[in-house]
Amino acid sequence: MSGKPYLASEDSALLRKALGMFSGECFLEIGAGNGGNLVEASKNFGTVMGTDLVRPSMTDWREGANFILADCASCVRPGSVDVVAFNPPYLPGEPGEDLAVEGGGGLEVPMKFLEEALRVIRKEGRVIFLLNDEAQLGGFEKICDGRGFAVRRLESKRVFFEELSVYEAFVPASKLGSSTVGGSADHSQAVTSATSLRRRAPASLS
Ligand SMILES: C[S@@+](CC[C@H](N)C(=O)[O-])C[C@H]1O[C@@H](n2cnc3c(N)ncnc32)[C@H](O)[C@@H]1O
Repeated sequence: MSGKPYLASEDSALLRKALGMFSGECFLEIGAGNGGNLVEASKNFGTVMGTDLVRPSMTDWREGANFILADCASCVRPGSVDVVAFNPPYLPGEPGEDLAVEGGGGLEVPMKFLEEALRVIRKEGRVIFLLNDEAQLGGFEKICDGRGFAVRRLESKRVFFEELSVYEAFVPASKLGSSTVGGSADHSQAVTSATSLRRRAPASLS
């Protein structure tokens, strides 16, 4: 697959800001573009992987960040990742030459990213994803609900003509069972004993 890699933009920066709140063992970004988010994630995660259909042009990888030319998370074992992130091609329109922008008439591409993320995420993990305000969140919530995941908004930012939001999908503490410690009414604060996954204080972008 040819094409130019997506260069980090406002959406990348907003996703990266949200990712600064998390740390853990294993991180995956679906549609990693030129890999800037991977470099950032490698500060807080042990194993960092990114997939894309387009080869990145950036070469100064930090140790531990791996870029895989693959469709979504097709190369990743189910239930193996602590945090999966993506800012997909989210504009309605038939996927064409620009894989980074057109997400399909019914946003099939972002929905496929989400399905794949939910396939590879650990039950105690988090899926962090970005959409704009034109996307019908309900369709994404329905997919998450079908897998026992709830959705909440983490960050929002108005950029020119659109509002971008970053969402977190997680299994509520009440559904995690006895493996959860420190469960609270605020499910986003759930910390599990089986992994070092944890929320961090928000970090500002440099
Ligand atoms: C909006 S860009 C975001 C890139 C990167 N995450 C960033 O923040 O800079 C979406 C990315 O998804 C990639 N993509 C589209 N379809 C894909 C697929 N089926 N599997 C993997 N990546 C895909 C595109 O090539 C593009 O790099």
